[in-house]
Amino acid sequence: MRILAIETSCDETAAAVVEDGVKVLSSAVATSAAMHEKYGGIVPEVASREQLKCIIPTIEEAMKPHKNGVNVSVYQCIGDTIDAIAVTVGPGLIGSLLVGVETAKTIAFVTGKLIIPVNHVLAHSYANFLINQQIQFPAISLVVSGGHTELYLMKNIKDLTWLGGTLDDAAGEAFDKTARLLGFGNGGGAAIQEASSQLKIENCKLKIILPRPMMHDDSLNFSFSGLKTAILREWKKLELQGLTRSDLVINALAYEVQEAITDVLVKKTLRAAQLHRAKSLLLSGGVAANLRLREKFSTKLETLNSKLFVPPAALCTDNAVTIAAYAYFKGKQGDWHTITAVPDLSVEIPI
Ligand code: KG4
Ligand code: ZN
Repeated sequence: MRILAIETSCDETAAAVVEDGVKVLSSAVATSAAMHEKYGGIVPEVASREQLKCIIPTIEEAMKPHKNGVNVSVYQCIGDTIDAIAVTVGPGLIGSLLVGVETAKTIAFVTGKLIIPVNHVLAHSYANFLINQQIQFPAISLVVSGGHTELYLMKNIKDLTWLGGTLDDAAGEAFDKTARLLGFGNGGGAAIQEASSQLKIENCKLKIILPRPMMHDDSLNFSFSGLKTAILREWKKLELQGLTRSDLVINALAYEVQEAITDVLVKKTLRAAQLHRAKSLLLSGGVAANLRLREKFSTKLETLNSKLFVPPAALCTDNAVTIAAYAYFKGKQGDWHTITAVPDLSVEIPI
């Protein structure tokens, strides 16, 4: 089955064609990230206007290889080569979602193809099945991105149960906000990771300790919003000791932010893995790119007899390939008359 998937939940506009859930035939992603740089974050209105401009060219790019050089319209090509259209319906920014959903509905109407609505957050987990089809169950899936930090139990490829998630800021959001406090602009988690790697921890005499929120409670929920105030408090303490802003201070603060966030993510995820005797641990979402997080998981998992899976970066961040994979393995056919964008779509109940 060949699925054309469309993803526009945040500031990316993506389209991809995937066969039988795992064979990627084409993938195109356009982002308006650079346009948000000067505002210090994503401006929803700017994102959706850009998406309006690039949705058709992005779909055309994804369909290009399927035209085989024949000069037919994109609709004709979809009609001839595609079996179903999958589209992210939520959660996400309303203006952005509408661009993808209305485009997908129009294509489904014009071509008479099936349409499959997809929950964007749940779909992140399926990036793992694109790289490895030998994943053993039960599996614990940690979706950790700029907007979400969610834990799921997968009893099989179709059976997904939400176990817990963040009560406030997502882990990626915590990286992004603290990165801004430290002066890294919109560099986010990647900038924190880079700064941390500059620190020679064994020679560092600075005493910086940030809290590990909710790390020791019994739930599988997270809370990262307190880190912003905590980091400002630590910074103030350093100033009182006469330490002014320097590369050393910034790198040491970045190091401790990364340690705090990754400690909590690892601890909670391993608790879930132990509770459910997981044979596999699946990471996805932009924060899965973090090398310290991967390192900690790899070390700890050795004792659990559980295997770690992490997709390549392009499949961790927002893309349409994972939307197609989810649609194939777990999606349910919808009706284009009734499908609609749902910005606050629950991440707890799979659709
Ligand atoms: O999945 P994603 O591309 O978009 C959302 O759906 O949110 O995730 C973006 C998030 C940002 O918060 C960014 O700071 C974070 O992923 N991120 C990282 C790293 N690379 C990207 N966080 C920690 N370490 C990284 N190396
Ligand atoms: Zn995402």
